[in-house]
Parts: sequence; structure tokens; C-alpha cells
Amino acid sequence: MRVSCVQITSGSFVILQFLFDLLPSSSGLGHRIFNPATRVQISLGAFNFNYYWRAKFMSVLVVLGTQWGDEGKGKVVHYLAEQADLIVRYQGGNNAGHTLIYQGEPFVLHLIPSGILFPEKTCVITNGVVIDPKAFKEEIDILHSKRIPTDKRIFISEQAHVILPYHRIIDGIFESYNIKIGTTKKGIGPAYADKVNRLGIRVIDYLEDSVFKELLEKNLNAKAPILNSQNVNIAKLRQEIITEHNELAPFLKRFVLDTRLLLEKSINNNKKILFESAQGSLLDLDFGTYPFVTSSNPTVGGICCGAGIEPKKIKNILGVVKAYTTRVGEGPFTTELSNKVGDILRYKGQEYGATTGRPRRCGWFDAVIVRHSSKVNGINHLILTKLDCMAGLDKINICVAYKYKGNIYKDFPASRTIQKSAVPIYEEMDGFTGKIKGITKFNDLPINAQKYVKRLEQLVGVKIDLISLGRKRDEVIEVTENINWFN
Ligand code: IMP
Repeated sequence: MRVSCVQITSGSFVILQFLFDLLPSSSGLGHRIFNPATRVQISLGAFNFNYYWRAKFMSVLVVLGTQWGDEGKGKVVHYLAEQADLIVRYQGGNNAGHTLIYQGEPFVLHLIPSGILFPEKTCVITNGVVIDPKAFKEEIDILHSKRIPTDKRIFISEQAHVILPYHRIIDGIFESYNIKIGTTKKGIGPAYADKVNRLGIRVIDYLEDSVFKELLEKNLNAKAPILNSQNVNIAKLRQEIITEHNELAPFLKRFVLDTRLLLEKSINNNKKILFESAQGSLLDLDFGTYPFVTSSNPTVGGICCGAGIEPKKIKNILGVVKAYTTRVGEGPFTTELSNKVGDILRYKGQEYGATTGRPRRCGWFDAVIVRHSSKVNGINHLILTKLDCMAGLDKINICVAYKYKGNIYKDFPASRTIQKSAVPIYEEMDGFTGKIKGITKFNDLPINAQKYVKRLEQLVGVKIDLISLGRKRDEVIEVTENINWFN
């Protein structure tokens, strides 16, 4: 159904509504004719008619991280998933870790979108994701053990590439002799490298026995030098992969389809689609702190290639931002606090990796990186998390720019040297105390907490519409009330 409003802007005004039911929404014709941005002005004597074409199909919402991951996207997606029909992962793999609360218990998902906890929602893993069939099955088994239904609710793309045991081994080998990145060792980088090298095995190839075996041989041959260098027993590895494949291919089959087509149909049928990014924008292969990044594009551009949807269908882009900064793994971190304050933030925020258990590095809020993320992604809403973990600090610093060799950098610099050696220029604010958790109105926050939030908004240039103050779904302040996130 499409609706248009006609507004007479001079003289008296009348609002007419026309329902265009003649075009079935499934035909896909409607969206080409009635672009929602279309405004047609017609003059009739003294009257100007403005036609605003609106269509409900523009319900694509993106939730992504604005720092180095672990901003609390899982909680935000869980909060918004109730309003969505489909929740979609478009990049990364089981390197992600989203901690959710289910029936009062913390619960970690690595690959399957957080929307799975709502029984009526559909979860989609698209072509841009790398899927470890073994890890996928383990996650499905966990869901079943919790009596969470998965049948006809989870779909994986036939074009996604698979992670196989040799990818995990090579991930570990690279870490020991290449630049140490501090990867999750889940085989993510090597699987994406195979994709780019055109050696990769896609889900559809994995399901075709003869194709899979042929590609497996090619891959084992290509990787023999590196595997031999570490005395890996290739014959044993081959057998392990084939045994796993015999079990996992039939298991995987029931989840596989053309997810691009599924999304196209869903968009044409006015479904609400929530894209859930993994990792954070500063871990983006192109826009992050290269080479200390993940091997995919968590930034918004990753959705078009990683899921096959048209860029113009993406409307609302929500950036999730932690009230301070954390990072796991190696790489530059200008505002890192290797002191007691860093320890306090780690302790209060329980900053330990959900996938690897590693302690996260902690530091002050860095407006340079969040501004960078906001520009790269076109973020139009910010969601601030973990403000409660900052309560009790006497003074709070915010990094407003970097300084290197006498030069000031307000925009994030690409140079590794500057990223590594720049010093932060801080703005100091008074801290806040008291019990923040449980507050549901912005004005009930301590005044210094309010000032902090407002300053972050100013520095990043995007409004903070929601503040999260705890792990539970309802521990939030709706700074802007009644937002229709899917509009
Ligand atoms: P990989 O994605 O395992 O290749 O790791 C590359 C970098 O991204 C490392 O610094 C990891 O610690 C980091 N990383 C990967 N996934 C996440 C995540 O979900 N949260 C935070 N850091 C991540």
C-alpha cells in the first residue's frame, strides 16, 4: 500500500489521502514509481499543491559500532529487534560476541543475530559473513538447549564463505610470525583472504560434495607450505575436515537460501529490517586503524556488498557509542589509560572479551574516532551505553583532538606513525556520583552526567537519542521519546 499526502500551501488547506492499492506491493513496481523522497509541486490558480510520496518499504535500520567494537550493540539490537521483522548480520563471523540477557541469565551469541530471542523474528546471515559450520551448529545446539526455536527462522546465504579448520590454524600461525594483530583466532582473516584470492569455498560449494572435495584439495595444496612450516599433519587435517563435512553439510542445508532475494522480497513487502553490525568502525578494513583491524567492513558500506541491498534503501543509521573507550587486541589507542582509572573502568564495565575472555584495554572517550565513524557511516542517531560505569570518577577527560609534532588533528589521521604516537588533547569535566542505574528520565541524571552527554553530542555532531544504563533490555533512558526507529 502506498499513501500520498496532498497539501495546499496557500489559502485554506486541505489534506487528502489517496490509497494506491492498485499496485500490489509484491509487484515491486510501486517503489520504482513512488520514491519516498519524491515531492511534486503543482500550481492551480492561487493554490500550490505539494505531493509527498511516502511508502512504508523504507524500513531499513542499521545498528553499528562507532569505536573498536564491544559498544553494547547486542543490547541495543535486542532492544530494537522487537519492532523489526528481520534481523540481519552482514559481515564478520563468530569473532563477534554479543552478550544478551535471556530469562535473567547472561547469554552470548557469536554468529546468530541477537533477534533470535524473539520467537516470531527471522534472522538472516548474508553473503558478507564468513560462516564456520561447526561454530554455527554449536550455537544452534545452545539455542535448542534453551528451548529457543530455530526452524524456518534462521537463514544463511549460499554465497557466504565458510571457515574451515585450516583457517583457524593459519590465523594462529600469522599471529606468531606476522604483525601481531591480537585476532580472535577464529580464522576470520584467512577465510576472507581466500575469498579475495578466489580460492574460497562458499556455502553452496560446501553443499555440493564433489565441488567441495575438489576445492578442499586445491586449498590444502595451496596452503601446504605454511602448514608444513609448522609441522601440521595435512593428511590428518584433511580427514578431520571430511568427517566434519559429512555431518555438517546436511545439517547446514536446511538453513541455506538466496538471502539477497529474501531481503529484496521483504523490502518490497514492507517488512522492517534491522542490520546488525559486528565489531566497530575503527576495526573496519578500510576506515579503521589498519592493519590492526578485522578483515571485513562493519561500516555501513559493508551492507550493500555484504547483503546485496540497494544503498538508497538504507535510511536510519544508529551509532552505538560507549561513554568511554575500549579495545581488545593490538593497535593504536590514543586515550588508553594504563593506570588506576583504566582499571576502575574495566572493573565497573566488566570489560572482558565476550569471545576470547581477554581483558579489554580501557581509556577516555575519544571524540576524534567517533566523529570519524559518524562521517564514514552517515550516522543520524547515537545511542550511548555504559554511562553508569563512569559514576564515581572525580574528573572526566574527553579527547577533542590529537597532537603530533606540533600539529593538531581533529580528523582521524591515516598515518600509522601519527595514530601510534599522537597525544590526546583533553577537555576536563567534573565527574558525577550516585546511583545512575534505574534512572529513566534524562533530567533525573546528575547534572554533571547531563553536561557530559551534551558535550559528547556537541563534539560528535549527532544527537544522543537513547542512553543505556545496564545490561537489561529496559535499563534505558529515551532521551528523545517515542522515536519511530524504522521510519
Ligand atoms: P579478527 O576479527 O579475529 O581477525 O581480529 C582482528 C581484530 O579485531 C583484533 O584486534 C580483535 O580483537 C578485534 N575484534 C574482532 N572481533 C571483535 C569484537 O567483536 N569486538 C571487539 N574486537 C573484535
